[in-house]
Amino acid sequence: MSLEQARALVQRASSIAILTGAGISAESGIPTFRGAAGLWKQFRPEDLATPQAFRRDPNVVWEWYDWRRSQIDQAAPNAGHLALADLERRVPSLALVTQNVDGLHQKAGSRSVIEVHGSIWALRCSQCERSWVDRSVPLPLVPHCACGAMARPGVVWFGEQLPREPWLAAEKAAVGCDVFLVVGTSAAVYPAAGLADTARSAGAKVIEVNLDKTGISDMVYFSLIGLAGDILPKLVGGG
Ligand code: APR
Repeated sequence: MSLEQARALVQRASSIAILTGAGISAESGIPTFRGAAGLWKQFRPEDLATPQAFRRDPNVVWEWYDWRRSQIDQAAPNAGHLALADLERRVPSLALVTQNVDGLHQKAGSRSVIEVHGSIWALRCSQCERSWVDRSVPLPLVPHCACGAMARPGVVWFGEQLPREPWLAAEKAAVGCDVFLVVGTSAAVYPAAGLADTARSAGAKVIEVNLDKTGISDMVYFSLIGLAGDILPKLVGGG
């Protein structure tokens, strides 16, 4: 019943904002962070995804990001990514806010993507802050900037601020939408997880699609439990 009702809400919406997390890329073969075989079950975030870890041992950090880049480079968007790209073509206003750094939404054809945690294909100078895109897999060596300083991955690490412009755009999208769709996130990491409440407080109906209950399941309008690749085509499909 709730899938049909949720679908009717999506069909009627003129402005939709979406927040995605690692769960939407799981069916593309990319591990999530906190799931059963999640990255944070295998690795310690404090050793790999903090500015302190990078200062301590940049080689180990780059080795790990290079491994993730080669995994992501092999991955293809799945039915979940494709359904959202298709929805974008049919809704007057849609913003897709993602916590993912994999670029699979763009690979699926989505154009209104807001990357609030950065991109694994972006590099940033650890000194002069210059940033650029480098898609080479594997990376030949630890990358350096033209200024001579070491480059770091262009992603947001624990304890770091989110990039200002993307964050402001994400907040604006949450405040201005009729329907806020949350897909494949444990809603454990703030401030991104707080966007659902921002949207609800501004009057939007929040719909969650997730493999299991999350920290926001009790406050959403509809919580649809299952695989994003199964549910999204039914929920947002044009047919
Ligand atoms: N379909 C739908 N949901 C899924 C699927 C699937 N196929 N597979 C897993 N999930 C759900 C899991 O049940 C879990 O609730 O996706 C969620 C993924 O949660 P996390 O692994 O915590 O990932 P995410 O919420 O994106 O993490 C947020 O934390 O580690 C940092 O910066 C990193 O952006 C990341 C942030």
